[in-house]
Amino acid sequence: YDQRGSELFEEICELPEYYLTRTENAILETHARDIIACAPARCIAELGAGYSKKTIHLLTEQLSQRGSSIFAPIDVSAAGLRASRDAVSAAFPAVTFHGLHARYQDGFSAIDKDLPTLFVFLGSTIGNFNHTDFPRFFRALSAAMGPNDYLLLGADRVKSVKILEDAYNDSRGVTAEFILNVFGNINRLLGSNFERGKMRYHSWFNPEWRQIEMYAVANESHEVRFPRVPTAFQWQKDEKILVEISRKFDPIRLQEQLRFFDLGAVEHFTDPRDWFSVLLLKKE
Ligand code: AVI
Repeated sequence: YDQRGSELFEEICELPEYYLTRTENAILETHARDIIACAPARCIAELGAGYSKKTIHLLTEQLSQRGSSIFAPIDVSAAGLRASRDAVSAAFPAVTFHGLHARYQDGFSAIDKDLPTLFVFLGSTIGNFNHTDFPRFFRALSAAMGPNDYLLLGADRVKSVKILEDAYNDSRGVTAEFILNVFGNINRLLGSNFERGKMRYHSWFNPEWRQIEMYAVANESHEVRFPRVPTAFQWQKDEKILVEISRKFDPIRLQEQLRFFDLGAVEHFTDPRDWFSVLLLKKE
């Protein structure tokens, strides 16, 4: 995401249709005490620079149960880490802040395996991983985890198609803007000539793959050029480019899959409507 993409995502999180952030936050608010009690860690390592309400619930409980903590957010955005550092040190003076400016894989393998750590990966970001990224991510995370480490994982669940599709096709068009904004960023990075006026947004829930698919669709046939590579292609009218997927999970199956990566379920927290799952897992 570029800066505009990050701002649009913040806006998405506030949309009435986008229930994910709100639902996960409510689960964490309700169960933070149990989560922290079940995971006796000295360090909380959050993937993605967080200083969200969700992190606050966890840090508050961690301090009340253990008196002190290390907080180690891992993110590729230095600005995000700085903002997180300033906010955390102001609100939680007893927390030692160690921001890791890195990609996830490099970040989590930099954490001492002997330091009991609770890794936190929220927001159902695992849903954005494809079938190659998913095992690669969990293999690397599990290999980086020590015997006393835990993982707190947020996963959005399969539910009514209408609710799922509305969450990714909001009435204000913020999601459409977010997805199509990617092409401005691609143009800046690659010197290509994608034109916003020549494309539209389309999304649907693919029941076979259990995923929302978000596309850009050409309104008319036109040539897209990448002068730096150099290459070009003809984007045909109504032809779709897949920009993002958001997979939806069955928590039982997800737990079974995670066992292949030596991650065993300790607890499963959900909301009253069973829309979202927060799994606490332990390295086995
Ligand atoms: C970041 N991620 C979990 C979001 C999701 O719900 O898959 C990204 C998103 N894309 C469009 N809306 C939200």
